[in-house]
Amino acid sequence: MGVLTDESKKLNIAVLPGDGIGPEIVEQALNVTKAVCEKFGHALSYEYGIVGACAIDATGFPYPQATHDLCMNSDAVLFGAIGDPKYDNDPSAKVRPEQGLLKMRKDLGLYANIRPVTTFPSLIHKSPLRADLVEGADFMCIRELTGGMYFGRPQGRSEDGNTAYDTCIYTREEVERILHLAYKYARQRNNKVTMVDKANVLATSRLWRQIAQEIAPQYPDVETEYMFVDNAAMRIIQWPKSFDVMVTENLFGDILTDEASVITGSLGMSPSASIGIHTSVFEPIHGSYPQAAGKNIANPIATILSAALMFEYAFGMIEEGALIREAVAASMDAGVVTEDIANDAKAYKTSEVGEWIVKYISK
Ligand code: IPM
Ligand code: MN
Repeated sequence: MGVLTDESKKLNIAVLPGDGIGPEIVEQALNVTKAVCEKFGHALSYEYGIVGACAIDATGFPYPQATHDLCMNSDAVLFGAIGDPKYDNDPSAKVRPEQGLLKMRKDLGLYANIRPVTTFPSLIHKSPLRADLVEGADFMCIRELTGGMYFGRPQGRSEDGNTAYDTCIYTREEVERILHLAYKYARQRNNKVTMVDKANVLATSRLWRQIAQEIAPQYPDVETEYMFVDNAAMRIIQWPKSFDVMVTENLFGDILTDEASVITGSLGMSPSASIGIHTSVFEPIHGSYPQAAGKNIANPIATILSAALMFEYAFGMIEEGALIREAVAASMDAGVVTEDIANDAKAYKTSEVGEWIVKYISK
């Protein structure tokens, strides 16, 4: 590893490749991380952990205690994806890979999931939207990640099995901390927060809106916009450029961020950062894409861009993150891309894209 200088830090990261294409894409992101550390003279140490279906197979638990301990003792977590079709097709399975992800979020206190939406000039033609609508779109979705219907109890079935229920619960504390975070990021961007809810129907949404109205005056330099979720779903495709920072509860955020990510042209490009009380987790927003696992065809860029977010958010290393982004843009300009965005041109392998980006960074 690089020489430790006065300005450099030691980066201690946990690497959780997970399932499906996770190991292939994380390998490339880790190589990029190593190259950046080498270049800037940061010492790096990393350790692998298991999570998801592979952890169930090995230990019976989707997020084993050893993996949690590893995450807690690291400065950042680089995460791939979880999920396996053998569980998707078995609704009666008691232990599921997704439980590992939810437990990790809860146990690490990752209450905010940050998903930047940016466009790439060379990818605009791949967007399902008209180029003039999407060109230059640049916003940030902040999804609450440890509350709402995902975690609310009771959740379950009636005794006869014919009635099912979930519970949506939010506390003032949960809403306040994520709204303050949204304003903090809006101040670093273009000073606008769009708070998305369903206050015309849901009690939890009315709490969100009430608290937002209390907090907004503390940020007079930031414009606050309130929007119902159905309207927001429409606006993301009609006028994506109108957003700067969008903040919303867990389930709405899950849905809207998938929608927002594809307007950039490919789901394979979108990174995310989950931050909160303990160690932050950096992961692509796409899933484990089991059909492609082991084929060396998956797009590693979302995970490589997640490593860029890791440098910025976990280590405050802005130049390092910027260099990764520059290298990714250069690889796309050079046409060194995987099949999902290759058009009719030659498609490169996962590892070839990663190697090209590493070379760019090391040059
Ligand atoms: C995501 C995923 C997860 C979620 C699943 C895999 C549980 O879709 O990170 O957005 O719903 O949060
Ligand atoms: Mn999702």
